[in-house]
Amino acid sequence: VGPDVIDIRKLYAQTGKFTYDPGFLSTASCNSTITYIDGDKGELLYRGYPIEQLAVNCDYLETCYLLLYGELPNPAQKADFENRVMHHTMVNEQMQFFLRGFRRDAHPMAVMTGLVGAMSAFYHDSTDINNPEHREIAAIRLIAKMPTLVAMAYKYTIGQPYIYPKNDLSYAGNFMRMMFATPCEEYKPNDVLVRAMDRIFTLHADHEQNASTSTVRLCGSSGTNPFAAIAAGVACLWGPAHGGANEACLNMLGDIQKQGGVAKIGEFIKQVKDKNSGVKLMGFGHRVYKNYDPRAKLMRETCYEVLGELGLQDDPLFELAMKLEKIALEDEYFVARKLYPNVDFYSGIVQRAIGIPVPLFTAIFALARTVGWIAQLNEMIGDPEYKIGRPRQLFVGASSRNVKPIGER
Ligand code: ACO
Repeated sequence: VGPDVIDIRKLYAQTGKFTYDPGFLSTASCNSTITYIDGDKGELLYRGYPIEQLAVNCDYLETCYLLLYGELPNPAQKADFENRVMHHTMVNEQMQFFLRGFRRDAHPMAVMTGLVGAMSAFYHDSTDINNPEHREIAAIRLIAKMPTLVAMAYKYTIGQPYIYPKNDLSYAGNFMRMMFATPCEEYKPNDVLVRAMDRIFTLHADHEQNASTSTVRLCGSSGTNPFAAIAAGVACLWGPAHGGANEACLNMLGDIQKQGGVAKIGEFIKQVKDKNSGVKLMGFGHRVYKNYDPRAKLMRETCYEVLGELGLQDDPLFELAMKLEKIALEDEYFVARKLYPNVDFYSGIVQRAIGIPVPLFTAIFALARTVGWIAQLNEMIGDPEYKIGRPRQLFVGASSRNVKPIGER
């Protein structure tokens, strides 16, 4: 279907031959009009718009509208969409009892996987994935309630009362209030920090057919309900090779810092290059980007803004991260493999400065990615070629044999 793409379905129909491609290195699983990545140039477009322009000129809910409906909203559409989302921010009170079943020290992603999956038990009018109206209301509910669930998971961990949503705040401002306010005092979100949080959401909103998005599509392809499909995406995102890299990256920076900071970078890089060590430079490398991830650049700029606002310009972890980046980008190992910082390299520094606890980083990624997952799910179901996803295998196990009675085995 083009100079670089072969459609092998005809070959399969005629000969029964299929391809072997573990990790899907060379397999396109769908047509998509949502997100475009040019990995060699380091370019990312949502519906044709460069991420650099969206991050500066639009807020997250405008970006959500764009991803879901294909165009940026006009003022009336924006107001209507915000109104719809911000009027679905509360979750059913029963959710609190469900949350209470978790240990207080549970990882937030364990809790989020459960809470998002549990939503399908609450909203029976939006569980038919093949019904566009059900999908639409499920989309609004998921986007609206994810911040509430993440904040509840956090408040539960620290034993503070839940803070109910305040719908006249912005999406990001409301989230920060639910995270950081207490019933004892007024909380006024800082505009610079709210803007940074909103940008984190925008930068994470979609990223074409990554592992979690492919999981959501595969899960949804069975006809399950939208909440279950998104819960599958949350579970997949958790892994350190994917969304869990932001947490792993900040922990890595913290460890290097404890061992001596900048002076220990050389030793750390040596370890990373030793294939037997099992150590990776977290926040570096990407399946598609073989150049600087544009989101990492924006995240690094946001570091300056946030740290400047908080008077933390000399933040040792930021200094360490920048030095680590510089050394890695001059090292033959990283140059030869085209390994550059990805979005997770700097996002943890911003989140930590804002006051987000490290284990919550990936839950915030999940919150932001929810819209991308939904847009991809909608696109899949609207595609006339959509079928249940069902990869094949090369069987390399035992051939047919007889079961011996237990006494003879
Ligand atoms: N540190 C050290 N070496 C690396 C790294 C890294 N972060 N990333 C890749 N490499 C090496 C591999 O060991 C491999 O080396 P080899 O050719 O000598 O065997 C080579 O670079 C190619 O890497 P692959 O693992 O084949 O690349 P793949 O596309 O399968 O993996 C991935 C991409 C998972 C992102 C990988 O780069 C990685 O694990 N990075 C660290 C985790 C991370 O930051 N994940 C976030 C990704 S972005 C996101 O999900 C939001």
